[in-house]
Amino acid sequence: MKFTKDLEGKNCFITGAAKGIGCAFSKALAKEGMNLFITDIDKENLENVKKEIEVLGGNVYTDKCDVSRYEDFKSAAENFHSKLGKLDLLINNAGIAIGGNAVDLEPEVWKEVLDINLWSVIHSIKVFLPHMLENKSGHIVNVSSGAGVFGSIEPLPYIASKFAVVGISEALFGRLHRHGINVSVIVPSYIRTRIFSSAKIKYSKKLMEEVGEEKLREIYNSMLQVMESKAMLPNRAVKKYIKGIKNNQLYIYDMRAVLMPYAMKGTDPQKFEQFLINYTEQNFNANKDLFQKYGINLEDYL
Ligand SMILES: NC(=O)c1ccc[n+]([C@@H]2O[C@H](COP(=O)([O-])OP(=O)(O)OC[C@H]3O[C@@H](n4cnc5c(N)ncnc54)[C@H](O)[C@@H]3O)[C@@H](O)[C@H]2O)c1
Repeated sequence: MKFTKDLEGKNCFITGAAKGIGCAFSKALAKEGMNLFITDIDKENLENVKKEIEVLGGNVYTDKCDVSRYEDFKSAAENFHSKLGKLDLLINNAGIAIGGNAVDLEPEVWKEVLDINLWSVIHSIKVFLPHMLENKSGHIVNVSSGAGVFGSIEPLPYIASKFAVVGISEALFGRLHRHGINVSVIVPSYIRTRIFSSAKIKYSKKLMEEVGEEKLREIYNSMLQVMESKAMLPNRAVKKYIKGIKNNQLYIYDMRAVLMPYAMKGTDPQKFEQFLINYTEQNFNANKDLFQKYGINLEDYL
């Protein structure tokens, strides 16, 4: 296949690059010959990624940037321009997950998730888009999720943030085409990173009191083990993402099945409704079976 875009010698700014998908992305893009400006709040791991890229012979700069803070973004962008100049590829990757049911989540949890997963993209566009418009070139890549294309199971703040990122990406794709700027949205399925194992979980007061935090963590970890055994490795996923970027695709996904419900919405709304019900039921039953193994009836905690 002939790709429309060559990345060699081009400049990339990426957020959340210290671990997981962002780290794999940075190393793979360095191998493509890109100059990298990698950012994260986790400075220690970021410096390790820098060293690994330098071993590969890559040109890389780091900066601490908390994506929820506009001031951090502005200063990282200034630093980027002074080191590398023109921005060719902007990857808004940083994100977090906080688990819990809608009724148990306080507004502060919503705010924390939206501040990072959604406001990161807003800050990034505000800071970098004028520069891209001036150059009439560039490519914005936003990392959403399978949870951003259909209303899967909770947690709601994560779903809300990822749906918003899809909406922003679609709107910008059409809007920026005439200015020579590409926009993509990545829709990862399930990738083996630390996002879920490091996620905070907000359990109901009753569950906390009667089951206890330690046991709940044990149950969550055993659920993660099953999920992780089926998850894709980040290196494999980013190969697919880079292919999509080179092809200037709007939607980039690593598993075709992720977009199946998205298509169903338009082609067969009733089938989609049934899909949502079945999907949620299946997940609930799987959780119920798991809790049962620990002698807990999940139905008592609804
Ligand atoms: N792993 C998956 O299965 C999966 C699925 C769908 C979507 N995603 C999305 O992929 C992206 C990357 O996630 P990952 O799985 O690599 O997670 P990860 O936890 O391994 O990496 C996320 C990185 O973001 C950084 N980060 C967190 N808060 C930040 C902040 N305020 N400012 C700057 N950096 C911050 C972390 O330090 C970390 O290095 C996220 O947007 C996530 O929602 C992941």
